[in-house]
Amino acid sequence: MEYLGALSGLDRELARVAKRIKNFSSWTSSVGAICESSQWLARRMRNAIDDTNLPILELGAGYGSVTKLLPESTVSVEREKTRFEHLKKIFPERKILDTCALPALAHLSEPTVVVSSIPSVNNSEFEYLRDGIARAYKAGMIAELITYTYFPHDPLSGIFANSEMAGLEVLNVPPAFVWKYS
Ligand SMILES: C[S@@+](CC[C@H](N)C(=O)[O-])C[C@H]1O[C@@H](n2cnc3c(N)ncnc32)[C@H](O)[C@@H]1O
Repeated sequence: MEYLGALSGLDRELARVAKRIKNFSSWTSSVGAICESSQWLARRMRNAIDDTNLPILELGAGYGSVTKLLPESTVSVEREKTRFEHLKKIFPERKILDTCALPALAHLSEPTVVVSSIPSVNNSEFEYLRDGIARAYKAGMIAELITYTYFPHDPLSGIFANSEMAGLEVLNVPPAFVWKYS
């Protein structure tokens, strides 16, 4: 009897672990990352910007790890409701938009620095983002773009006149490559 009781306890524990794993994997696929960018990666992204006097548009602000290092005048876009509400709460003075990155890019009306954390891998929508970035750049609305990847591949190759891998941040989970375009 005692033995059977232990077994059903084990079943419950296994069910709990399975649920946690399922939640974690759906969370990582919606965020596109294991966790938020570290302060070191966020700093590297901010330091990659050449001209902080230009307007800045941040795409995929998440819970704000990069946002908090960007100038107050930055416009940040985050389409996921819980993260958007969190951002509104912690940055009450800032302009945070709960829209998709695509209309935000399409509505740029002057040369802007774009700082994007939207994943390029395991993101079935990335090709649309790539096209939106290409259109905005062609229209002269992207002066610079900074992004990061977890693999050493250039996510926006063939779009910009200049592109470079601006560094590797090992103090991040996982380590991340920072890319810079103009
Ligand atoms: C990897 S997280 C980055 C969060 C944070 N900026 C960081 O670096 O840790 C990517 C974020 O982009 C958001 N996102 C993905 N696609 C988007 C889109 N098309 N428009 C707006 N936000 C998007 C997701 O909701 C997620 O919060």
